[in-house]
Amino acid sequence: MNAPHDTRQMTAGLAHVHKSLPHDSAEKHVTGTATYIDDMVEPQGLLHVVPGWTRHAARGRILAMDLEAVRKAEGVVTVLTARDVPGHNDFSPSIGGDPVLAADEILFHGQVLFAVVATSRDAARRAARLARIEVEPLAPIVTVEDAVAADVTVLPDYQFRRGDPEGALAGAERRLSGSFHIGGQEHFYLEGQVALALPGEDRSMLVHTSTQHPTEVQHVVAKVLAVPDALVTAEIRRMGGGFGGKESQANQWACLAALAARVTGRPCKIRLDRDDDMIMTGKRHDFRVDWAVGHDDSGRIRAVDMTLLARCGYSADLSLGVVDRSMFHSDSSYFYPDAVIRSRRLRTDTCSNTAFRGFGGPQGMLAAERMVDAIAITLGLDPLEVRKRNFYDGTRNLTPYGMPVEEWQTLHTIVEQLEDGAGYWQRRHEVRAFNARNHVLKKGLALTPVKFGISFTLKHLNQAGALVHLYTDGSVHLNHGGTEMGQGLYQKVAQVVADELGVTLDKVAITATTTAKVPNTGPTAASSGTDLNAMAARNAARTIRDRLTAFAAERYTCPPEAVVFRRNRVIAGDIEIPLAELARAAHQARIHMSDAGFYASPKITWDRETASGRPFLYFAYGAAMSEVTIDTMTGEMVVDRIDVLHDVGHSLNPAIDIGQIEGGFVQGMGWLTTEELVWDAQGRLRTHAPSTYKIPTASDIPAHFNVKLFDGPGNPEETIYRSKAVGEPPVMLANSVFCAITDAIASLRPGHVPALDTPATPEAILKAVRAMKSGVAI
Ligand code: MTE
Ligand code: MOS
Repeated sequence: MNAPHDTRQMTAGLAHVHKSLPHDSAEKHVTGTATYIDDMVEPQGLLHVVPGWTRHAARGRILAMDLEAVRKAEGVVTVLTARDVPGHNDFSPSIGGDPVLAADEILFHGQVLFAVVATSRDAARRAARLARIEVEPLAPIVTVEDAVAADVTVLPDYQFRRGDPEGALAGAERRLSGSFHIGGQEHFYLEGQVALALPGEDRSMLVHTSTQHPTEVQHVVAKVLAVPDALVTAEIRRMGGGFGGKESQANQWACLAALAARVTGRPCKIRLDRDDDMIMTGKRHDFRVDWAVGHDDSGRIRAVDMTLLARCGYSADLSLGVVDRSMFHSDSSYFYPDAVIRSRRLRTDTCSNTAFRGFGGPQGMLAAERMVDAIAITLGLDPLEVRKRNFYDGTRNLTPYGMPVEEWQTLHTIVEQLEDGAGYWQRRHEVRAFNARNHVLKKGLALTPVKFGISFTLKHLNQAGALVHLYTDGSVHLNHGGTEMGQGLYQKVAQVVADELGVTLDKVAITATTTAKVPNTGPTAASSGTDLNAMAARNAARTIRDRLTAFAAERYTCPPEAVVFRRNRVIAGDIEIPLAELARAAHQARIHMSDAGFYASPKITWDRETASGRPFLYFAYGAAMSEVTIDTMTGEMVVDRIDVLHDVGHSLNPAIDIGQIEGGFVQGMGWLTTEELVWDAQGRLRTHAPSTYKIPTASDIPAHFNVKLFDGPGNPEETIYRSKAVGEPPVMLANSVFCAITDAIASLRPGHVPALDTPATPEAILKAVRAMKSGVAI
């Protein structure tokens, strides 16, 4: 924090950084010329892989698998089962338990039992249906309640605690408690899971894989094939969306493509059918949160006891980190003097839930908002007033896990600016008047905060690498470990590198992420893609520039300070030459013009064993105000207006950041209002296509959707140009929509908390309205 706080004057001469430049592939996206894996020209002899499964069981023992008819079907080259795996039959990103091909047991409805390899995708799909699978079914554990009753978990329970929450709860003036169900979410990336494997010499394998984590695909493929990591290369130019659903869930498909390529010796591609994708891959964890809060008559919280019950599915996958992040965000922006935050990672016989934008944070944060709404409603106070009374401040600023909230002032300022700018109190008055006039339609209003911790809570993931080359014609090859999923990471990093080397963006060739150029990377996740990779790439570019500076200073006899790189030219004292000319001269002089940059984030000291230390480098803040109207006869809901003020520090690219905020908000709104996952008692997902699973469409976006970037002092930490991560935090701005719906229903019966869970679909709203009218409270 000792570097100058406002860096914008210092960086005023930048040509690309801080500018609203379009996404590097914007034109290709809209003209359909961006190459996704399934668009790549197919190699000669390509075979297609389709996963096989049985529709007849969720959990059970496999008694017999008759694949004769499958093998004999037209176009089929081979059929793979667990017996064909030469190495370790597991694609888990963590502790194991994720068979690539199930051997004796079916763990959930949708588990892959075999894979058909055929000359066309259509032939493989037809053949897969011919399998005769005999299973001894077991009664599946489907819901959180089932798992609690059976006491089954995928990982041990975990908690943090401060002070004496039990004593403080007992001694509080008032107490409230409740149980809150939070639904899951399907990623619905536009490009489904896909991988293309090309076998090479000496057992090597190149896998084009739609993944957020190429290094992990490399590792799991190497283990499945029983070859060293060095023989496997994982590569990805772009994903058509990931949203966390390709952080670990891309592994299995890459493994199947690679296995098929190994067995057949031919290139093999797998592209999941949308229904299979929705049935087989993990989703956002759904939760039940049991909470109890002690508070005073003014709504100030004394103590909190919260239990986060997460439905993890059949395996651990990333549930350790996901649920930890829920715990880290179960305070939202509120100070809990005494607190115990408990968590259980419940095992169910359903798909293995995974990363999803916010990585558990949204669930924890929403539980806190629900609790605060309950306090406000029962006390008859305005929810915003109660929120503000509980905000972290100069003296009450320690989170339940012991990290201080250093930027509490930013939180206060953002909320005040939005409150004034969007006219909260005036509109509160108007909403009340509207509700007094209307018996059927009711309006609700809510302003909710976001405070989201930035860094991976697994410390070693907070590192990145980059590879930058300067060629003798003055053009630049840029590569780094981060992956592009639409979020604009590649463009932001390119802007940083262009300014570092003083070249125009057209001189920077953005290249596909590959484990062959930058090794040992972490996933592009936790919103930290830019924070990590832009730093690594800048470090690489800076090293090259430093070498050229020293060379130019000597060659043109001027001090190094007099060497300036600008617009593809170099000024060295009195002379000015094209960068290409200097690069050629440097090459003649045998100067190295390539560098592998590296970066590791500072300050992170979290120790999970002792539940102490600092898990995050900083927090990203924001606030949103939503106004909704509900129809109390039908349960229909319309979002009338959204106002957002969000903190991205000093934005590297305001256009991209605003796009992330808008997209994140709408995705969060979908999660909380229309996207409903339904499993039946047999553990079958009934909502596995867009016909039954409703994501937001353009028409769900309100006419008034105002998004502004907070004009603040920039990130107090020394991040890249003092920017802040933006990928995930905006999802949680949508909590304001849920709270506004709660507010609208609460207007029906003052003092009573609506019995509303998420998603707040029309059915759920109607049920809550009816319960309210008949006097059932939480
Ligand atoms: N934006 C788009 N367009 N597509 C995506 O898949 N994923 C989100 C977010 N924004 C996503 C996105 C998620 S889950 C994360 S963690 C971040 O982008 C990852 O990228 P970043 O770290 O570069 O922000
Ligand atoms: Mo994002 S859920 O961290 O991939």
